[in-house]
Amino acid sequence: MAAKTISEKIPVLRKQADSGRPEKEFIDAVVAGLSGHPKALPSKYLYDSRGDRLFQQITELPEYYLTRCEEQILRSGRDTLLRYVRGFARHFRLVELGAGDGKKTSILLSHFLKKGCDFEYMPADISAHVLQDLMETLTRAFPKLKIRALVKEYIMALEDVGRMASDPKLVLFLGGNIGNFSKDEAASFLTLLSGRLNPGDLLLTGFDLKKDPAMIYHAYNDRQGVTRSFTFNLLRRINRELDADFDPGNFIHYPTYDPQSGEMKSYLIAQRAHEVKIGATGTRITFAEWEPVFMEVSNKYSETEITALSERAGFEISEMLFDRDRFYVDVLFKKTPP
Ligand code: AVJ
Repeated sequence: MAAKTISEKIPVLRKQADSGRPEKEFIDAVVAGLSGHPKALPSKYLYDSRGDRLFQQITELPEYYLTRCEEQILRSGRDTLLRYVRGFARHFRLVELGAGDGKKTSILLSHFLKKGCDFEYMPADISAHVLQDLMETLTRAFPKLKIRALVKEYIMALEDVGRMASDPKLVLFLGGNIGNFSKDEAASFLTLLSGRLNPGDLLLTGFDLKKDPAMIYHAYNDRQGVTRSFTFNLLRRINRELDADFDPGNFIHYPTYDPQSGEMKSYLIAQRAHEVKIGATGTRITFAEWEPVFMEVSNKYSETEITALSERAGFEISEMLFDRDRFYVDVLFKKTPP
C-alpha cells in the first residue's frame, strides 16, 4: 500500500490546497484595492503556486543577495543561537512565521537536532502548498523532527503563539519578510508579537539593510525579468481565479527605491486608459493613462531604525548577526519583562 502523502494526513492542508474556489477574502481585497485611489493590491497574494516558484527563482538570481546573505548568517550564527536555546533548559518551541521552503531553516534544524535539543518545529505560512512541500522535505531530511504546521497568516499564527502557555519559544521571522510591512506596521506587528511572548522568549528577525541604492534597485529589477514576471503573476492570478480580463500588455513594471525612507516599491502602471472587468463580481475597473497600481514594498532598515523599533516593541536586542558584507542582519530580540 502506498504511504499516505502529508496532505492526506493533514485534512486542513488538503482542503485548502485542493479548493478551486477563490477565497472571498481574495475577491474582496482585489475589488477594494482596485476601486480605491490610489490603486493597490496586497502583496501577500503574489504567492500562488506559480508565484512561489517565481519567488524561488528570484532567490537564486545573481542580483538578489538577501537569501544568500541570510544563509551565510545562519550558518555562521548557529552556534550562537544554540547557546541561547540551550539557555531555555527544557523543551521549547521553534515557531516560524512565513516558513517558505525551509532551506534556510534547515541550517538551524539540523544543527539543533545534532546537538540534542528537545524542540517542536511549528512552521506557519499562508500558503498551504508551501507548507505541504516543506513538511515533505523536512520529514524526509529529519525523520525525528517533531513538526506541527499552521496554515495561517502571521497575525493568526500569533494568536496560537499566545495560546502556547509557558513553553519557551524561539520565533523565527526570516527572509526579510518584515520588509513587506510599512515601518509603522512593522512596529505594530512586533509590539503585538511581543505581547504574545513571555519574558525570556526569543525572536529572530531578518532585516535587509540600507546600502548602495543601485544594489537594492537591481535586486528588484533583475536583468532576466523574473521579478517582473513575479509581479505580473498577480494579474494572471486575478484573471484566472476571478475571471478577469487584465491585458498585461497594458501595463509596465516600475520598481523604485527611495534611499531616504528605505522603501523599495514596485508598481504596475497602466500605459493607456482602459477598462478591466472582474467576472467573479461583475465589477468594472477603469484605469487612467499612467495610473499606477502599488504592488509591494520591501523596506530597508538602518541599525538605528532597528534599535528604535526594538525599544518601541518591548524587546531587548541580544545579538545582531551580520553577513560578511553587512548587507543584511538577523536580529535576535529577547522579550523583556514588562
Ligand atoms: C519575500 C518579501 C522578502 O521583499 O525581498 C522579492 C519578496 N519581491 N522580489 C522581498 C520579493 C520581489 C521578498 N520577500
